[in-house]
Order: sequence, then structure tokens, then C-alpha cells
Amino acid sequence: MNEIRLTTEEKQMLSGEQGRATQKAMQILVALGNIYQAERMIPVSSVQVAGVSYDNLGEAGLQFLAEMADGGGKVRVPTTLNPAGMDLKNWRALGIPAEFAEKQARVIEAFTRMGINPTCTCTPYLVGNLPAYGQHLAWSESSAVCYANAVIGALTNREGGPSALAAALTGRTPQYGLHLKEMRLPAITFKVSASLTGTRDFGALGKLIGEKIASTKSIPYIMGVSAAGLEQLKSFCASLATYGGAALFHMPGITPEATQYDPPANAIPITQADIEAAIESLNNTLPSQVDFISLGCPHLSLPEIADLARLLDGKRVRKEFWITTARSTLQAANRLGYCRTIEAAGAKFAADTCCVVAPIQGRFTAIATDSAKACYYASAKNKLKTVFLTIDEVVNLAVD
Ligand code: F3S
Repeated sequence: MNEIRLTTEEKQMLSGEQGRATQKAMQILVALGNIYQAERMIPVSSVQVAGVSYDNLGEAGLQFLAEMADGGGKVRVPTTLNPAGMDLKNWRALGIPAEFAEKQARVIEAFTRMGINPTCTCTPYLVGNLPAYGQHLAWSESSAVCYANAVIGALTNREGGPSALAAALTGRTPQYGLHLKEMRLPAITFKVSASLTGTRDFGALGKLIGEKIASTKSIPYIMGVSAAGLEQLKSFCASLATYGGAALFHMPGITPEATQYDPPANAIPITQADIEAAIESLNNTLPSQVDFISLGCPHLSLPEIADLARLLDGKRVRKEFWITTARSTLQAANRLGYCRTIEAAGAKFAADTCCVVAPIQGRFTAIATDSAKACYYASAKNKLKTVFLTIDEVVNLAVD
């Protein structure tokens, strides 16, 4: 088995000449490169690190991060973080225990000491970490990885937390997988005849296609979708990655690499009835049982918050209602007056976090959301029943 080739500088990193944390980071990358038979390291333009919530990291994860910070680790490229386990400022109002908040703050402190921007979001491309077509990245969050590869045409594998951090501390990643052109070819075609509108429909499409490719991990070529905006695509990416483990898809007329490929033969049809069945499969309780409303998986964009303000204007919500988003999106929404309207209706913003990584297990019994990904994790992780609706329907349910 050939070992990965390193440049002089990379060898220095590995030998410890550039500090303990950089050495550890390069050891992680070399091990990964050798496992995947990468020939060399390549520079990355940006990094997005997952494994930020203390709920997922635990004590061992916190200790690893503290050691990397103590070892002099400093990021070499712009680096952002995935959602944390709580709103970093407003955690008390959202019922997060103080003991958890103290641990979470230590996690963020370690990342910050390494020079990482604590922009805790799964939509880094909405808040300043926006790659260009053809750039190599080391991103972790599955929905963002799919968005970066497919919608932007950047190149990234789905990194684990440690390998993404290692890429940030060295500015390198091993060249394998989706960094190679020949690994980005479509292998299966879908032909959609259904009419799709909002985020819920695109989430249902992602679930359907995801489940069909889950066992093979084939890259799908999806025909028949004539229009899809940013919000629909972020919903689709989250769902496709969750249900199918996909990190890339091609959609002619929508994604930039699709024109480079012919669709593989024998297209699998996706009909309106298929979409409706996928939606129904995520409705497993009555709307009257819902005691938790969650919007923002992936994190809401500013236009989505504007829509929500319009829908909630003058209304009053009667259930616990969380809106998850990036802090800088929240700040922009605040300046534009949307937060005032939404909070006057009784809904709560939870910036920096998401309902999957926040410690909410046991607090609620049933969730209503427009996100197929949120349904999956609400059920699998937090044991909640799910009601899968359009955003308008979610709001109607909340104010009933
Ligand atoms: Fe983002 Fe959490 Fe959903 S990380 S995609 S809001 S599960």
C-alpha cells in the first residue's frame, strides 16, 4: 500500500516542528489519506466543523478540543462551526440547564482560541462562508456538504468533526472521494413528474430519492425539476443527505455540473402520488397532539424569516415555537423589524443551535415542522411523534 506523498511543509507539520496541535492534525489527515489511498494533500479554501454541541461531544470531545487549543492550534483558513447545543446568549429563556451551558461555553471557548469564528450554523453559505465553484473545502455538516457540492459546485467530502478541525489547522485535506472529478459522476437517474412548491415538498423529494439510493450511495441525476430556489434546495439537500447519505446530486438547469453529464439510462419515475406518500409517512400523530413547533432545519434564511413575520403578524402562538437560525441572520432580521413581530406573537428565536443538538429530550411529545430532516431526528433522537406540514400550515397549527 502506497503512503500519501507530503510536501516539505506538510512533513514539518507532521514532525511537530509547527507545534503539537498541528502535528496531531496532520497525523489525523495522513491516517485518513492512507485509509482512502489518497496520493497527496490539497489546500482547502474554507472549513466548516461539526461536533460542536456538548450534547454530542461529551467530556472526551471537550477535552480533545481543549488539548488542541492548548497545543497552539490556529486555523489557517476561514472556519465556521455547526450549531451548538444552545443559543449562546439566550439559553436561559429556552430552558437550557446551567450545567450544560457552562460545558457548552467551554467548547466554544476552545474553538475560539484556535481562531474559529463561532458562527454556529448549518447554513454557513448564508452568513459569509460562501465558497466559489471549483474550490476545495473540508466541510462537515451533511446538508451543507450536499449544498456546497451540488448547488455551488465546490468540492468537499463529508468530514467528521476531528478531520474538519485537522483541515482547518493545516489548511489541507487528503485528495480522495469527491475531490476527484471521476468520483462525481451520476450513477442513477430520477425523472420527477410531480409539481413541487415549498420546502416541505422538496424535503419529501429528498426523502424519497434518499431512501432509494441509501444502500448504494449512487450519485443521483434528477430530471424534471424546472425551478428550485435557495430555500427549497437547502431543504432538499438536508433531506437527501439524511435519508440517503448523499453528498452530491445533479439537477439539469439547477446545479452547475449537470451539463457535464448525460443521465444514466433507465430513469426511475417520481410521481405526485409518491411525493404525497412520502409526506404522509412523516405524519404519525394528530396535529392536536403537537406541543412543539420547530422551523429552521436547516437554519432559516432572512427571506424565510420575513415570510414568517408576515404569517405571524398580529397573531398569537399557543404552543412552544422555536425558530432556529444563524446569529447574524437573526441580527439582520432584528434590524428589519421581523423579530419584533415574531416575538410579539410568542414564538422564540434560538440562534446558534438546532432542535436536534439541543438537550430537549423528554420535554415534548410531538413536533410540527416543514423539515423532513427534523422529522427524522426528532423521532430517532428525541423520540417525538412528527407532523410534517408546509410553513403556512405549521403557523396555522401554532395559532389555532
Ligand atoms: Fe441544521 Fe440541525 Fe437541521 S444542524 S440541518 S438545524 S438538524
